Amino acid sequence: MNAANPGRLDPAGRVIMLSGANRGIGAAIAARLRQDGYCLSLGARSPGSMAEWLGADCICQPFDAFDPESPQSWVDGTMEHFGRIDGLINNAGISEAFGFGSGDEAKLDRMLEVNLKAPYRLIRAALPHLRVSGSGRIVNVTSLSGIRYKMGSPGYAMSKFAANGLSSAARALFWDDGIRVTAVAPGPVDTDIITDLGPLKREDITRPETVADVVAMVLALPNNASVATVPINALFDALP
Ligand SMILES: NC(=O)c1ccc[n+]([C@@H]2O[C@H](COP(=O)([O-])OP(=O)(O)OC[C@H]3O[C@@H](n4cnc5c(N)ncnc54)[C@H](OP(=O)(O)O)[C@@H]3O)[C@@H](O)[C@H]2O)c1
Repeated sequence: MNAANPGRLDPAGRVIMLSGANRGIGAAIAARLRQDGYCLSLGARSPGSMAEWLGADCICQPFDAFDPESPQSWVDGTMEHFGRIDGLINNAGISEAFGFGSGDEAKLDRMLEVNLKAPYRLIRAALPHLRVSGSGRIVNVTSLSGIRYKMGSPGYAMSKFAANGLSSAARALFWDDGIRVTAVAPGPVDTDIITDLGPLKREDITRPETVADVVAMVLALPNNASVATVPINALFDALP
């Protein structure tokens, strides 16, 4: 029970795993969740570079989406330290230019590995512990590009459509275990992943801290008030 807000879960003692926490949207989510009072297990390719995060409420573990063994070791390391896992946020992601031109499928394979297969593996590895929680949460940071194609890399859109499919399947399959799965699907956000703003100005696009607010909100919703997908529009879109 959350004394400050009876409509939300109490963050105290809840352990959340978060990938891609070292920069961009992930760093904003980590800062926000720490402020909210969660315990954090941050996954990063270079955990040594995240010393400033370390504390009684926060550990940093190696996580490389290209290594199929990495999800299980990160889950094991989290359990060894905290003894429980209540939430998993699949945030790490990459975008590469891949369309119908050169057909260099290595780029598509890399995006599928990081944006789809690693989140799938992390969900599998964390699942037994999320079930024990009784109010396990999975948040997949997908993209508006995974709901409708508008611009940018078609290969990225393909990987994010698949990530939304992963969210949808996990949401249905694990509902009866008290696990709630949400896809948070932003449009353009001001991070390193945006290499070309085109005609947009920086102030037109969403701030990482705003996405972190949305993630914090869905993470704290009780079992009887879950949202499946949160599209975040910086620009008008007839769909979604
Ligand atoms: N920014 C946007 O406009 C936007 C819009 C919609 C959705 N998204 C999604 O939001 C999520 C976060 O993106 P961002 O905008 O914060 O991008 P970012 O600033 O480029 O950060 C990407 C994060 O993913 C991590 N990562 C990349 N490859 C990895 C790998 N192989 N193993 C482990 N971690 C890896 C990066 O770690 P390193 O520092 O080690 O590379 C970094 O922490 C992504 O899933 C992205 O697709 C972003």
